[in-house]
Amino acid sequence: MTAEASEPLTLALPKGRLMEQVLQFFEQFGFYFRISRRSLTTTDSQGRLKLILVKNTDLPVYVSHGIAGLGICGTDVLYESSAEFFELHTFAFGSTRMCLACRADHEPGADRRQLAVATKFSRFTHDFFHARGIPVQVIRLNGSVELAPVLGLAPYIVDLVETGTTLRANNLKITEDLAEIRVKLVCNPAYYKLHYRRVNELLGAIQGVSNHERA
Ligand code: PRP
Repeated sequence: MTAEASEPLTLALPKGRLMEQVLQFFEQFGFYFRISRRSLTTTDSQGRLKLILVKNTDLPVYVSHGIAGLGICGTDVLYESSAEFFELHTFAFGSTRMCLACRADHEPGADRRQLAVATKFSRFTHDFFHARGIPVQVIRLNGSVELAPVLGLAPYIVDLVETGTTLRANNLKITEDLAEIRVKLVCNPAYYKLHYRRVNELLGAIQGVSNHERA
Protein backbone atom coordinates (compact mmCIF):
# COMPACT_ATOMS: atom_id res chain seq x y z
CA MET A 1 0.00 0.00 0.00
CA THR A 2 1.23 3.52 -0.77
CA ALA A 3 2.41 6.05 1.79
CA GLU A 4 -0.56 8.40 1.17
CA ALA A 5 -2.87 5.73 2.51
CA SER A 6 -3.96 7.01 5.90
CA GLU A 7 -7.48 5.70 6.31
CA PRO A 8 -8.02 2.01 5.54
CA LEU A 9 -10.11 1.05 2.52
CA THR A 10 -13.55 -0.19 3.56
CA LEU A 11 -14.99 -3.53 2.45
CA ALA A 12 -18.43 -4.90 3.32
CA LEU A 13 -18.57 -8.64 3.81
CA PRO A 14 -21.57 -10.85 4.51
CA LYS A 15 -21.50 -12.75 7.78
CA GLY A 16 -21.78 -16.50 7.33
CA ARG A 17 -20.10 -19.15 5.22
CA LEU A 18 -18.78 -16.79 2.53
CA MET A 19 -16.99 -14.72 5.18
CA GLU A 20 -14.75 -17.65 6.19
CA GLN A 21 -13.76 -18.29 2.57
CA VAL A 22 -12.94 -14.62 2.01
CA LEU A 23 -10.84 -14.40 5.19
CA GLN A 24 -8.83 -17.46 4.14
CA PHE A 25 -8.38 -16.01 0.67
CA PHE A 26 -7.11 -12.67 2.03
CA GLU A 27 -4.59 -14.43 4.29
CA GLN A 28 -2.89 -15.72 1.14
CA PHE A 29 -1.65 -12.21 0.35
CA GLY A 30 -0.96 -11.11 3.91
CA PHE A 31 -4.24 -9.59 5.16
CA TYR A 32 -4.99 -10.99 8.61
CA PHE A 33 -8.15 -10.12 10.51
CA ARG A 34 -9.17 -10.92 14.07
CA ILE A 35 -12.92 -11.20 14.38
CA SER A 36 -14.32 -11.21 17.88
CA ARG A 37 -17.68 -12.85 18.40
CA ARG A 38 -19.98 -9.81 18.53
CA SER A 39 -17.85 -7.27 16.70
CA LEU A 40 -19.20 -5.99 13.36
CA THR A 41 -16.09 -4.17 12.17
CA THR A 42 -12.43 -5.11 12.17
CA THR A 43 -9.26 -3.80 10.51
CA ASP A 44 -6.40 -5.95 9.26
CA SER A 45 -3.24 -6.21 11.33
CA GLN A 46 -1.51 -3.49 9.25
CA GLY A 47 -4.42 -1.03 9.15
CA ARG A 48 -4.95 -1.19 5.37
CA LEU A 49 -8.46 -2.63 5.06
CA LYS A 50 -11.47 -2.27 7.34
CA LEU A 51 -14.15 -4.97 7.13
CA ILE A 52 -17.77 -4.12 7.80
CA LEU A 53 -19.71 -7.31 8.55
CA VAL A 54 -23.31 -7.12 7.39
CA LYS A 55 -26.28 -9.29 6.50
CA ASN A 56 -25.80 -10.25 2.86
CA THR A 57 -29.02 -8.62 1.64
CA ASP A 58 -27.94 -5.33 3.29
CA LEU A 59 -24.52 -5.34 1.64
CA PRO A 60 -25.57 -3.47 -1.55
CA VAL A 61 -27.15 -0.78 0.66
CA TYR A 62 -23.88 -0.12 2.49
CA VAL A 63 -21.84 -0.08 -0.73
CA SER A 64 -24.29 2.03 -2.75
CA HIS A 65 -24.35 4.63 0.06
CA GLY A 66 -20.54 4.62 0.18
CA ILE A 67 -20.44 3.51 3.84
CA ALA A 68 -18.32 0.68 2.53
CA GLY A 69 -16.43 1.51 -0.65
CA LEU A 70 -16.08 -2.13 -1.64
CA GLY A 71 -18.12 -5.27 -1.12
CA ILE A 72 -17.87 -8.99 -1.75
CA CYS A 73 -21.06 -10.90 -2.36
CA GLY A 74 -22.95 -13.15 -4.74
CA THR A 75 -24.60 -12.12 -7.99
CA ASP A 76 -27.89 -13.29 -6.44
CA VAL A 77 -27.79 -10.45 -3.91
CA LEU A 78 -26.45 -7.91 -6.40
CA TYR A 79 -29.25 -8.68 -8.86
CA GLU A 80 -31.96 -8.26 -6.23
CA SER A 81 -30.58 -4.85 -5.17
CA SER A 82 -30.60 -3.36 -8.72
CA ALA A 83 -27.95 -0.84 -7.57
CA GLU A 84 -25.12 0.08 -9.95
CA PHE A 85 -21.60 -1.00 -8.99
CA PHE A 86 -18.28 -1.47 -10.72
CA GLU A 87 -17.66 -5.22 -10.82
CA LEU A 88 -13.92 -5.57 -10.32
CA HIS A 89 -13.37 -9.30 -9.90
CA THR A 90 -15.07 -12.70 -9.95
CA PHE A 91 -13.78 -15.13 -7.34
CA ALA A 92 -13.23 -18.82 -8.06
CA PHE A 93 -14.75 -19.84 -4.72
CA GLY A 94 -18.31 -19.60 -3.47
CA SER A 95 -20.19 -20.47 -6.67
CA THR A 96 -23.70 -21.84 -6.18
CA ARG A 97 -26.71 -22.65 -8.35
CA MET A 98 -30.06 -20.87 -8.43
CA CYS A 99 -32.64 -23.64 -8.80
CA LEU A 100 -36.34 -24.24 -9.14
CA ALA A 101 -37.41 -26.99 -6.73
CA CYS A 102 -40.56 -28.70 -5.54
CA ARG A 103 -41.64 -31.61 -3.33
CA ALA A 104 -40.07 -34.91 -4.31
CA ASP A 105 -43.55 -36.38 -4.91
CA HIS A 106 -44.77 -33.40 -6.98
CA GLU A 107 -45.33 -33.97 -10.70
CA PRO A 108 -43.87 -30.92 -12.49
CA GLY A 109 -45.34 -29.92 -15.83
CA ALA A 110 -49.09 -29.76 -15.39
CA ASP A 111 -48.94 -26.46 -13.49
CA ARG A 112 -46.31 -24.72 -15.65
CA ARG A 113 -48.95 -22.37 -17.18
CA GLN A 114 -48.80 -20.27 -14.01
CA LEU A 115 -46.09 -21.01 -11.53
CA ALA A 116 -46.55 -20.11 -7.88
CA VAL A 117 -43.06 -19.70 -6.45
CA ALA A 118 -41.92 -18.84 -2.94
CA THR A 119 -38.49 -17.22 -2.85
CA LYS A 120 -36.12 -14.69 -1.34
CA PHE A 121 -35.12 -13.81 -4.92
CA SER A 122 -38.27 -12.14 -6.19
CA ARG A 123 -36.67 -9.93 -8.86
CA PHE A 124 -34.65 -12.80 -10.31
CA THR A 125 -37.65 -15.15 -10.30
CA HIS A 126 -39.98 -12.59 -11.86
CA ASP A 127 -37.47 -11.65 -14.60
CA PHE A 128 -36.36 -15.23 -15.31
CA PHE A 129 -39.84 -16.61 -15.98
CA HIS A 130 -41.18 -13.50 -17.70
CA ALA A 131 -38.23 -13.63 -20.12
CA ARG A 132 -39.47 -17.11 -21.04
CA GLY A 133 -43.11 -16.08 -21.33
CA ILE A 134 -44.16 -18.10 -18.28
CA PRO A 135 -46.55 -16.24 -15.95
CA VAL A 136 -45.32 -16.45 -12.38
CA GLN A 137 -46.81 -15.58 -9.01
CA VAL A 138 -43.96 -14.72 -6.68
CA ILE A 139 -44.45 -15.10 -2.93
CA ARG A 140 -41.64 -13.21 -1.23
CA LEU A 141 -40.07 -14.79 1.88
CA ASN A 142 -36.98 -13.83 3.86
CA GLY A 143 -35.58 -17.27 4.61
CA SER A 144 -36.29 -20.97 5.21
CA VAL A 145 -38.14 -21.04 1.89
CA GLU A 146 -37.96 -24.84 1.83
CA LEU A 147 -40.92 -24.80 4.19
CA ALA A 148 -43.22 -23.36 1.52
CA PRO A 149 -43.80 -26.53 -0.57
CA VAL A 150 -43.82 -28.69 2.56
CA LEU A 151 -46.57 -26.64 4.21
CA GLY A 152 -48.49 -25.83 1.01
CA LEU A 153 -47.74 -22.10 0.68
CA ALA A 154 -46.51 -22.63 -2.89
CA PRO A 155 -45.67 -25.76 -4.91
CA TYR A 156 -42.32 -24.34 -6.04
CA ILE A 157 -39.35 -22.48 -4.60
CA VAL A 158 -36.49 -20.67 -6.29
CA ASP A 159 -33.47 -20.85 -4.04
CA LEU A 160 -29.73 -21.34 -3.88
CA VAL A 161 -28.48 -24.89 -3.87
CA GLU A 162 -24.92 -25.56 -2.83
CA THR A 163 -24.60 -29.11 -1.46
CA GLY A 164 -28.28 -30.04 -1.83
CA THR A 165 -28.44 -31.00 1.85
CA THR A 166 -31.26 -28.58 2.69
CA LEU A 167 -33.42 -29.80 -0.19
CA ARG A 168 -32.88 -33.46 0.72
CA ALA A 169 -33.57 -32.80 4.41
CA ASN A 170 -36.96 -31.34 3.44
CA ASN A 171 -37.82 -34.02 0.87
CA LEU A 172 -37.56 -31.63 -2.07
CA LYS A 173 -36.03 -32.10 -5.53
CA ILE A 174 -34.55 -29.81 -8.19
CA THR A 175 -36.89 -29.30 -11.14
CA GLU A 176 -34.63 -26.99 -13.12
CA ASP A 177 -31.19 -25.44 -12.78
CA LEU A 178 -31.78 -21.75 -13.56
CA ALA A 179 -28.46 -19.92 -13.21
CA GLU A 180 -24.94 -20.03 -11.86
CA ILE A 181 -24.29 -17.61 -9.01
CA ARG A 182 -20.76 -16.21 -8.68
CA VAL A 183 -19.05 -14.25 -5.93
CA LYS A 184 -17.94 -10.74 -7.03
CA LEU A 185 -15.80 -7.90 -5.72
CA VAL A 186 -17.79 -4.73 -6.36
CA CYS A 187 -16.98 -1.08 -5.82
CA ASN A 188 -19.01 2.07 -5.36
CA PRO A 189 -18.26 4.10 -8.56
CA ALA A 190 -17.60 7.37 -6.70
CA TYR A 191 -15.36 5.58 -4.20
CA TYR A 192 -13.39 4.07 -7.05
CA LYS A 193 -12.73 7.50 -8.55
CA LEU A 194 -11.45 8.78 -5.20
CA HIS A 195 -9.38 5.74 -4.23
CA TYR A 196 -8.61 4.05 -7.55
CA ARG A 197 -4.87 3.76 -6.83
CA ARG A 198 -5.29 1.83 -3.59
CA VAL A 199 -8.30 -0.10 -4.88
CA ASN A 200 -6.25 -1.20 -7.89
CA GLU A 201 -3.38 -2.27 -5.62
CA LEU A 202 -5.78 -4.41 -3.63
CA LEU A 203 -7.31 -5.75 -6.84
CA GLY A 204 -3.83 -6.63 -8.14
CA ALA A 205 -3.13 -8.66 -5.00
CA ILE A 206 -6.49 -10.43 -5.32
CA GLN A 207 -5.89 -11.21 -8.99
CA GLY A 208 -2.37 -12.43 -8.19
CA VAL A 209 -3.72 -15.04 -5.78
CA SER A 210 -6.53 -15.98 -8.18
CA ASN A 211 -4.10 -16.48 -11.07
CA HIS A 212 -1.80 -18.51 -8.84
CA GLU A 213 -4.73 -20.75 -7.80
CA ARG A 214 -5.75 -21.25 -11.45
CA ALA A 215 -2.18 -22.15 -12.57
C1 PRP B 1 -29.04 -21.05 1.60
C2 PRP B 1 -30.18 -21.38 0.67
C3 PRP B 1 -30.57 -22.78 1.12
C4 PRP B 1 -29.25 -23.36 1.56
C5 PRP B 1 -28.71 -24.28 0.48
O1 PRP B 1 -29.58 -20.62 2.80
O2 PRP B 1 -31.22 -20.45 0.78
O3 PRP B 1 -31.49 -22.73 2.18
O4 PRP B 1 -28.33 -22.28 1.75
O5 PRP B 1 -27.49 -24.86 0.84
P1 PRP B 1 -27.24 -26.42 0.69
O6 PRP B 1 -27.61 -26.82 -0.69
O7 PRP B 1 -25.75 -26.58 0.95
O8 PRP B 1 -28.04 -27.12 1.74
P2 PRP B 1 -28.73 -19.88 3.91
O9 PRP B 1 -27.82 -20.83 4.61
O10 PRP B 1 -28.04 -18.72 3.28
O11 PRP B 1 -29.84 -19.43 4.95
P3 PRP B 1 -31.27 -18.70 4.77
O12 PRP B 1 -32.15 -19.60 3.95
O13 PRP B 1 -31.77 -18.56 6.15
O14 PRP B 1 -31.00 -17.37 4.11
